[in-house]
Amino acid sequence: MSMEQPNHQTSMTVLMTPDMANFSGNVHGGAVLRLLDQVAYACAARYASSYVVTLSVDQVMFRQPIHVGELVTFLASVNYTGSTSMEVGIKVITENIQKKIVRHANSCFFTMVAVDENFKPQKVPPLIPTTADEQRRHTAAKLRRELRQELEARFREIA
Ligand SMILES: CC(C)(COP(=O)(O)OP(=O)(O)OC[C@H]1O[C@@H](n2cnc3c(N)ncnc32)[C@H](O)[C@@H]1OP(=O)(O)O)[C@@H](O)C(=O)NCCC(=O)NCCS
Repeated sequence: MSMEQPNHQTSMTVLMTPDMANFSGNVHGGAVLRLLDQVAYACAARYASSYVVTLSVDQVMFRQPIHVGELVTFLASVNYTGSTSMEVGIKVITENIQKKIVRHANSCFFTMVAVDENFKPQKVPPLIPTTADEQRRHTAAKLRRELRQELEARFREIA
């Protein structure tokens, strides 16, 4: 039996085309969200070798517009695994092709849950972080998971 870990990283590069524009001529936030969800799906489904669903999305922030004509690269990795859920971190890099300007537009975090053919959660292989980067992402993801749980508990108290 292979002791290799499942592939936990996925990347996708997409050209921002005019059909993705909003009324100001820049890329519509919804178009980017749709791509982010597709990348998160691909990364988590490939890692878990199963169908997955999106449970939550954190920290999507558009500090600067993305322009039509730019190349956008999504670098995704499974940062953390619970029993059935995975946190997928996605770093968004934009590239102005003509001016050769590269920007880190955004990083965000999706929680994806592996499900079986009846859409019931099913176990995922545990992620074993090995490199220093993977360990750092794992520790940060664990903290975000705890913070999400705490936030939910605190809002439940005042509901
Ligand atoms: C995701 C889903 C399958 C989870 O179902 P569930 O009955 O809550 O399942 P469980 O209680 O077994 O939880 C499954 C995992 O989700 C996590 N989870 C569930 N509810 C959560 C919440 N409110 N906050 C954080 N994590 C949560 C659990 O911690 C568990 O992860 P773990 O096994 O790694 O610890 C279910 O909520 C669902 O189908 N949601 C809709 C998904 C979807 O359609 N997405 C697209 C929306 S358009």
